[in-house]
This record gives sequence, C-alpha cells and structure tokens, in this order.
Amino acid sequence: MCGIVGYVGDNEATQFLLDGLAKLEYRGYDSAGIAVGENGTIRVEKSVGRLSALRDKIAGNEPHGHIGIGHTRWATHGRPSDLNAHPHTDCSGDFAVVHNGIIENYLSLKEELIEKGHQFRSETDTEVVAHLLEEVYEGDFEAAVREVLRRIEGSYSLVFMSRRDPDTLICTKQDNPLVIGLGDGENFIASDIPAIINRTRRTYILNDGELAVVKKDSVWITNRSGEPVTKKVFEVKWNAEAAEKGGYEHFMLKEIYEQPKAVRATISPRMAKDGRSVAMDDLGWSKEFLSSIHKIDIVACGTAYHAGLVAKYYIEKLVRIPVECDIASEYRYRDPIVDEHTMIIVFSQSGETSDTLAALKEAKRRGAKSLAITNVVGSSIARESDQVIYTWAGPEIAVASTKAYTTQLILAFMLSLYMAQILETQTEARIAELCSALQRLPGQVGETIEDVEPIKTFAKKYGFNEDVFYIGRSLDYDVSLEGALKLKEVSYIHAEAYAAGELKHGTLALIVEGVPVIAIATQKSVYEKTLSNIKEVKARDAVVIGIAAEGDNELEKYVDHVIKVPVTDELLIPVLAVVPLQLIAYYAAITRGCDVDKPRNLAKSVTVE
Ligand code: F6R
Repeated sequence: MCGIVGYVGDNEATQFLLDGLAKLEYRGYDSAGIAVGENGTIRVEKSVGRLSALRDKIAGNEPHGHIGIGHTRWATHGRPSDLNAHPHTDCSGDFAVVHNGIIENYLSLKEELIEKGHQFRSETDTEVVAHLLEEVYEGDFEAAVREVLRRIEGSYSLVFMSRRDPDTLICTKQDNPLVIGLGDGENFIASDIPAIINRTRRTYILNDGELAVVKKDSVWITNRSGEPVTKKVFEVKWNAEAAEKGGYEHFMLKEIYEQPKAVRATISPRMAKDGRSVAMDDLGWSKEFLSSIHKIDIVACGTAYHAGLVAKYYIEKLVRIPVECDIASEYRYRDPIVDEHTMIIVFSQSGETSDTLAALKEAKRRGAKSLAITNVVGSSIARESDQVIYTWAGPEIAVASTKAYTTQLILAFMLSLYMAQILETQTEARIAELCSALQRLPGQVGETIEDVEPIKTFAKKYGFNEDVFYIGRSLDYDVSLEGALKLKEVSYIHAEAYAAGELKHGTLALIVEGVPVIAIATQKSVYEKTLSNIKEVKARDAVVIGIAAEGDNELEKYVDHVIKVPVTDELLIPVLAVVPLQLIAYYAAITRGCDVDKPRNLAKSVTVE
C-alpha cells in the first residue's frame, strides 16, 4: 500500500507533491513525507500522521526546488513514525527513494550493508534500497538503479532522486502501479491518476520491469534489459471533479448517491439495441469455448468477494456451470484444483489487490482461462488477465466500497445472461424479461436513496449498540455479509452476518434483549424460513429491522421497523437491498463521530499481502 509522487519541472515541486499526495491518501495515511532538491542538497521533511501534519510542520518553511518525490504511507515494516516515514535516504544524503510494496529480501541485504558500514535509521524494508544505491553507485545514476533492481526481490513501485543528478528522477515498477504525467516543461510521477489530473491528462502507464528516466522535458523508457520501449500516450478521460467530493460531506455518501449513474453506465453499453439480450461480444466467446469450461473459480477479497458470492449464485442458477467462490488469500495457498477447463474470474475494484493478483497468476500458471472484473482501466489485474470487463463506476475514493460493489453485481448478472444466451440455458423470453428488469434498475436504485430519514433515525437510535447481527438466506445472506462488513469498517460496531438457518447452531446464544438484528427477507423461495428465524430472534427480545420488497405486507407484523425496496426480479434485489445497508453503516458512523472516508487501520487499495 502507500501512494508515491514525483515532480521535475519549472514550477515549485513542493506544491505538486503535497497536492498529489492529498489525492493518494486513500492508499494509506499513517505518515507522509517529501524530499526536494534545494540549493544542491536533498531536503527531506516527514511526519507521522495525516498529510495535514506534514503541511503543519513545514508551514512557512516549505522546501523550495524544482525536483522532488513524496510518499503517503500505510505501514507494513515498522510502525508509523517520523523515522519510518518515506522518503528514505542513504548515509551520505545523496540519494532519496520512495517505495510502494515490499522488498522481500531486505533482511539479508540489510545485514550485508551493515557489515559494509552503512548506518540504518528506520525499521523499514525500503531503507535498504537507498543504501544499496549508495553502495553500487559508480557515477552513473541509471546504471546504479539497474544494479539495485537486480539485487532486490519483491513487489514495488519506486521513485529515485540523486543529489548528483539534480535534474533527473528514475522510476520503475513491479506488481505495483505507477503512471507518468506528461506536462509542458514539467513531468509528474504518481501511483494513480487522481494525483495528476489537475495538471495533465496525458500519461504513460508503466508496465512491470519498465524503467523511466524522467527529466523536465523528456521521458525515456526502457525495459528490464535496457532496450527502449515505445509507449502510447494514454489520454485520461475522467473529469477532474469526478475525483472530488462534489458537495457531499464524505466520498462514501457521494459514492452511494452515484450508484444510479454508475449502474446505468455499466448496463447501457452492454445492452443489445432491442433491449432483449446482453451484448458482450467483445469477449468473443463461442458455444465450443464455454462448453470446454467445466468449472469457474471466482476469487476476490472483502467487498469484491461478497460480490463474487452473488456471482456464483447467478452463474449456477442461470448457466448451470459449477462455481467455487474463494477469498484470494486462501485460494492462492490451498493448492486449488485448476486445469485448462477452469476459468478464473477475479473481482477487484482497484485492480491492484495483491492477493487477488497473485491468485490470478497462480490459476493462469495452472492453465486456467482468466477474466477480470475491475474498475480501473490499465490496472495490474486488468493487464494480467486474458480478458477484462470494466465496471463503469468512476473513481471510488472512500475506503468503504459501495458503487464498485453494485456495479460488480451488475456485471456478474450480465455476464451470466451472456453465457446463458450462448449456451442456451435460458429461454429467449426469460432473458428478455431479465434484461427488462435490468434496465429499470438504475431508476430503482435512485428510489432507494430518496428518503433516508428513517435510516438516520435508526442510526441515531441504535448507533451506540456494541453488536449488530445481520441475517438472511440465499442471496439475502450474501447481502447480509456485505451489510455487516460496511458497518464494521466505518462505524467500528461489532457486526456479524449469519445465514439465518445457521443461527440456532450457536449464535442464537448472543441474541438477548435489545440487540439489533437486521433481517433481509426478499427471496420468495426461502421467505417463510427466514420469517421463522425472525420469530426466533424476536422471541429473545431482539430489536429487528427488516428489509423487504414493496408489496410485502407480512414482514411488518413480525419486526420492529421495515425498510422497503422497489420490486424487481428477485435475482436483482441484492443491488437494491444493499443500498439501505450502506446508508445504515454511513449514518451509524456519523452518529459515532467516525472518520467515514478513512477508517482506522484500513486503506483503499491493499497492494501488500
Ligand atoms: C470494503 C472494501 C474492501 C475491498 C477489498 C478488495 O469496503 O473496500 O474489502 O473490497 O480490499 O479490494 P479490491 O476490490 O480493490 O480488490
């Protein structure tokens, strides 16, 4: 995790570095630092805490210079502290480096460098890179960086600066993202595009193993062997405001409200003109190809994993291909049974989650066909996968994922329909019916966020409870898992989701008077069963908030409060039912005064194991 930036050009480096880091705080925010070339030296300023702590520290005494690098950190090796914050320097102060990732062989390198007399100041893995650079430097900056890269193992994006080459930054990447922004008389480096779109829309997206020598009016890119690489300029199409809060108090709320638009943008380009079938022909799948797939493995983390569970239900129900859904950090180590008849589908908002990327590589190594569902164009997962489909959710900045989840559900559903069309596992009439439900969905998502007053009232009333339980069956259970995760991560309330039928096998012991239970009961086939489970918790004096579809006049007889969502095909209800759960989490966090967009201990993009 961590965000990194670099600047070289005619303007003040500090300005860009601080503004750029502010846009990357979603990647980590436990400490921040910058290094700026000032009067023939490299001046380093760093501070534990948010970027604002660094701003306060240097206020009135900002470094002045035209070249610099910066970092916002999410600690892996060494606790958050001033000393462990990046940039890191060598003994002489001639070199500075910022790093996102993990240097796996840092301990052996550190021992070797200590023996040679290097003095280390931090507990980080990154500091070895600065000392190693000092050790191997023989007058040629680029050659020394290449030598460092030959010696280090692990994942990284790195930006180097040298006091002896005061007009040059060198950057490179392996398994972590890095973009170069092309300006006029200036160039920028960043982990992600939001850091640079206020300055330029013209970018180069670096691939693994590529190294760029960046000066104010040139960018020279070579591959691992030093051969020149010709890169196409990638023109960023987002508008700058899309990455800003746009009047909402928090990104999370803004992103919840963006869901109708995000869902529409994800559906429309993939709907056939007559609206009766799905057009995902870019995938180029044939009946022969899909018939050769005997099993699908869906792999993801966190919220994306919860979307994967719904995808499993869709594919099995509509296409009848067996699906396993796994957490990426488990999958990659459990020796999965994968061969050329397996397809792996990975879900990832960021496209950078390290475990998901590793699981994808592992499945490919074993012969699987691969497909990625991601939100970030050109991300590592998008590039690693054989094929990719994008959720057109726009940038998701809040750590808690909302619009990425709903759009992932949409793509899971459309992909299942597309496969069903090819394999003829559903009738044309049923597919047309589901497509028509799909097209009503953006408006219906809008209806779920029209009146949030009752949700604010629950949040105020129950926001100080220590435990909340979520129950449901079938797709409702999958949605409960996501509802509980949202509440945990933003409000710090202990929340557990249980398959409603599983309660009596242990968890019912925790249900006592006044404990809030959120019961999702939208699935007709298991409705009566869920109702029995609701009666069980009511009999133990729980306070029950039910989530039901409009027209259900039964549930309110058994629960304390009901939230209704519009009627749609029950396969699609998860897209609607999750929205009140997102809002409950948001308003509970507000009630408790939590930092909604930056929950403690978390970061948006988990690029370490
Ligand atoms: C929770 C959340 C995380 C992510 C998980 C995977 O709100 O956002 O659980 O879903 O870290 O991230 P991506 O989707 O970027 O692979």
